Amino acid sequence: MNLAFLLFCHVCLLINAVSTFQNFSGHKLLGMTPSNDEQVMALRNLMEDPEMDFWLEPTRELQNVSVHVPPQAAQKLEGTLRNVGLPFYTITDDIEKWIEREREENYPGIHLQGRTSGFAFDVYHPLDEIVAYLDDVSRKYPNLTKLINMGDTYEGNIIYLLKISSGGNDTRPAVWIDAGIHSREWIAPATALYMINNLLVNYGNDPYITGLVDTNDWYIMPLVNPDGYLHTWNWNRLWRKNRALAPGFPGVLICRGIDPNRNFDIFFGGPSTSSTPCSSIYKGNRPFSEAESSAIRDGVMSLRDRMRAYFSLHSFSQIWMSPHGYTTLKAPHFDEHMELLTVAITAVEATHGVHYKYGPSSQTLYATSGSASDWVYDVAGVRHSFSLELRDRGVFGFLLPRTEILPTSEETWAGISAIISHLQAKEKTKATPGAPTSTATIAITAETTITTLNLNTTDTP
Ligand SMILES: *[C@@H]1O[C@H](CO)[C@@H](O)[C@H](O)[C@H]1NC(C)=O
Ligand SMILES: *[C@@H]1O[C@H](CO)[C@@H](O)[C@H](O)[C@H]1NC(C)=O
Ligand SMILES: *[C@@H]1O[C@H](CO)[C@@H](O)[C@H](O)[C@H]1NC(C)=O
Ligand SMILES: *[C@@H]1O[C@H](CO)[C@@H](O)[C@H](O)[C@H]1NC(C)=O
Ligand SMILES: *[C@@H]1O[C@H](CO)[C@@H](O)[C@H](O)[C@H]1NC(C)=O
Ligand SMILES: [Zn+2]
Repeated sequence: MNLAFLLFCHVCLLINAVSTFQNFSGHKLLGMTPSNDEQVMALRNLMEDPEMDFWLEPTRELQNVSVHVPPQAAQKLEGTLRNVGLPFYTITDDIEKWIEREREENYPGIHLQGRTSGFAFDVYHPLDEIVAYLDDVSRKYPNLTKLINMGDTYEGNIIYLLKISSGGNDTRPAVWIDAGIHSREWIAPATALYMINNLLVNYGNDPYITGLVDTNDWYIMPLVNPDGYLHTWNWNRLWRKNRALAPGFPGVLICRGIDPNRNFDIFFGGPSTSSTPCSSIYKGNRPFSEAESSAIRDGVMSLRDRMRAYFSLHSFSQIWMSPHGYTTLKAPHFDEHMELLTVAITAVEATHGVHYKYGPSSQTLYATSGSASDWVYDVAGVRHSFSLELRDRGVFGFLLPRTEILPTSEETWAGISAIISHLQAKEKTKATPGAPTSTATIAITAETTITTLNLNTTDTP
């Protein structure tokens, strides 16, 4: 245990001692655009400091960065920026005001009445409402849905997977969508819930949706990290990780939480991960130590042979990304990925005219290691594996106003459904006699222990 860790733990103790909703009064969000390597490096060094909460990580010159700092650390940050001659601007000097605005807009409880009939898709819902909604749709649509328990979290919440299928006896291609592995990215689960509703309500009414449901089984995990999500509603709106205690460190003395999206068995511990439990990108002590990453692994492995596409929803930045996060080398299916992403972005932008970027994640966002979408591509061998950063581009960041929920959901659905339709159209033209239809197999590049699960036989909780 080094000195840096001990220093971190003063902060941890304070954080753990907070027993009411954390007040972010006077916390600032600062924006800046580094213009040379020295400035990028200075910012990257600051990432080791647990008081610096990067909302947009520094990667290269001319890319926007934003950092949330508490009042006591603002001077330190501003001093560093001045030392390297990096101008900055204040996006807000009181994050608490944004959080209180959001809390008023989404007051829990008022949207619960009526549930499936009255469940609103233009607000953020607390955990109990989301669980009640999933329970209700599984009862209301017994012939179309199956609610599957994919595991219990550290705090005993259930990780739900909703299967939507109109038949086919588990032979149809599968489409997987997961959301909310990072708990503060509220727009992601909101978008996943919108998609569930869209598929169920329009099945049998809208020919396009009916076609998509009759030719694919949809597997949607709308809230991968319920413990973290609960924490963002009840204690700390800006919490990112799960709530597990880091193994090997005693009780309350340590920082909690492992980043499940650094916990997959692919380049575990590589670039942009941390071995410090206080870090917001702490990877844990071994791959798949966490219920959240294991739930995705088990679900994806059981469907890998028929998975048409995998989508993981995050926020924010407005980017659609293909593998890889851990290397800037081109993925084996780079050309096809770009073709599909072009189709998606065209549909996304046609919906509300909002611009998104696209490309391999290591080139469009920043390096990531141990992430879900890389693991799904490399290890599970799912050829079309994408990670999406939804709205916005840093104006409100994680605190995306309620008015943007529906437009974000609509454009994201437009992009996902465009990819699926495009793939189906391609497969149809290919399925002529003599044409090869098999999907390429990707070499397994990481050792992994896999528990295969038959989703079809898992009981509804
Ligand atoms: C947060 O702290 C500020 C300043 O002390 C105070 O005005 C505000 O009411 C607090 N908010 C809540 C929700 O307690
Ligand atoms: C970077 O930030 C500036 C200032 O807020 C903004 O005008 C610009 O559009 C941002 N660029 C990107 C790529 O988001
Ligand atoms: C479900 O399917 C069964 C058998 O096909 C049918 O009798 C029943 O009406 C269906 N239920 C609903 C809610 O559609
Ligand atoms: C579904 O598939 C299973 C195993 O492949 C098979 O045993 C069963 O008969 C099938 N059921 C129907 C209704 O086709
Ligand atoms: C899947 O479930 C259906 C209905 O519950 C059952 O008839 C079928 O045998 C199951 N298939 C497999 C592969 O277990
Ligand atoms: Zn995320």
